[in-house]
Amino acid sequence: MASRAEDEAMRHAIALAGFGLGTTSPNPVMGCVILDSQERVVGEGFHAYAGGPHAEIVALAHAGERAKGGTAVVTLESCDSMGRTGPCTRALIQAGIRRVVIAVSDPNPAAGHGAATLRAAGIEVELGVREEEAATGNVAWLTAVRRGWPYVTWRVASTLDGRTAAVDNSSEWITSEAARIDVHQLRGEADAIIIGVGTVLADNPRLTVRNVRDGSLAIRQSLRVVVDGDGETPPDARVRDGLAETWIATAKEVGTGPDGLVDLRALLRGLYQRGVRAALLEGGPTLAAGFLSAGLVDRVIGYMAPKLLGAGRAALSGKELSNGVGVGILREPIDLEFTEITLVGPDIRYTAVPIRRSPAARTSLTAHLERMTPQVPREADISAEERASSEIMRGVPIRTGTTKEKGEE
Ligand SMILES: NC(=O)c1ccc[n+]([C@@H]2O[C@H](COP(=O)([O-])OP(=O)(O)OC[C@H]3O[C@@H](n4cnc5c(N)ncnc54)[C@H](OP(=O)(O)O)[C@@H]3O)[C@@H](O)[C@H]2O)c1
Repeated sequence: MASRAEDEAMRHAIALAGFGLGTTSPNPVMGCVILDSQERVVGEGFHAYAGGPHAEIVALAHAGERAKGGTAVVTLESCDSMGRTGPCTRALIQAGIRRVVIAVSDPNPAAGHGAATLRAAGIEVELGVREEEAATGNVAWLTAVRRGWPYVTWRVASTLDGRTAAVDNSSEWITSEAARIDVHQLRGEADAIIIGVGTVLADNPRLTVRNVRDGSLAIRQSLRVVVDGDGETPPDARVRDGLAETWIATAKEVGTGPDGLVDLRALLRGLYQRGVRAALLEGGPTLAAGFLSAGLVDRVIGYMAPKLLGAGRAALSGKELSNGVGVGILREPIDLEFTEITLVGPDIRYTAVPIRRSPAARTSLTAHLERMTPQVPREADISAEERASSEIMRGVPIRTGTTKEKGEE
């Protein structure tokens, strides 16, 4: 059983891991705290960017000789593979660590069997300390790696009467500046931002990660993805401005589903192969309905403004095709449960996750992950980059700000 000091160290390691959100893909976020033999904190670290040192390496360097005979507290099972930085298990053994406390086992077979290697070297290993909390912090990566496609967050902004755009199709300024700042934080934590061609034609958004007030760009930009069956994104669309990488995902390239539209599952698998683990779906109503109909939304983050429009676009809409087949027609309600509700400026921000059919499993996030992610990826689904390493990166903080741009919430 973990001691009080180890439990406290794990809490800290989970917080440290969060600093890597948005910059570690295709690797997980990870934090590590080293306690000396008297259980005093002597080292700490987190994985800051893919290709950079792993959390254990940073924390061991910080601790130096004081690590000998001590305990390493890690949020995810230490890697046992060579990767770009060598196995962390070897570093822990060489540093003379006596005990390793782990929150979550690594589901990625390419990372090796860190716990077993440590035990074989005579190190005491304890698994499962603050497991649910650590899994929550790594939910996108854990979900993506277990099933082979990215974790999808649908971000939607609406009025109190559920309108996401006015009758003239405009949707700018539905929510406040504070909410838009928050959205840029979400973008910074995502590896890809997905919209449909309808939103490009209506709003011409930039989809960059930037300071809302002065427009300055974050150092790291997410991949911009336009789902565009017939390749109708205009040559002068802002998403083609070169400020970030853009993928115009056409039906020809991705393939089509039974409805004749871009196959969204194939799109997500393609994104996974490109190293995307967390994707942010930013609309509009047709594409959102397509994702929801296909069961491809893992989480909804909504911003609701205290405004009433009386008319305009709903958050979801289907599109009838000439052959009568509809897209995005939900045949039965999708039940969700709120996991967080908070005020962002004058607006409400809610987070909700779909409830799958087994109510008994609702209470446990781990069970939730299992329900959402039934497939362990086959070797073939793991990219060469991921196989080669399980490394670390650091997120770029987004400053608060106010650059107005049509159509971007
Ligand atoms: N308030 C908000 O949060 C928010 C966010 C975004 C947008 N909006 C508003 O939404 C409006 C635009 O909505 P929209 O529905 O026209 O745009 P959209 O959902 O972004 O794009 C829809 C288009 O995506 C393409 N698509 C390709 N594969 C698809 C698939 N499998 N499922 C669904 N769509 C697929 C279709 O065009 P092809 O058939 O040509 O491929 C479809 O017409 C604008 O008024 C905008 O301001 C609001």
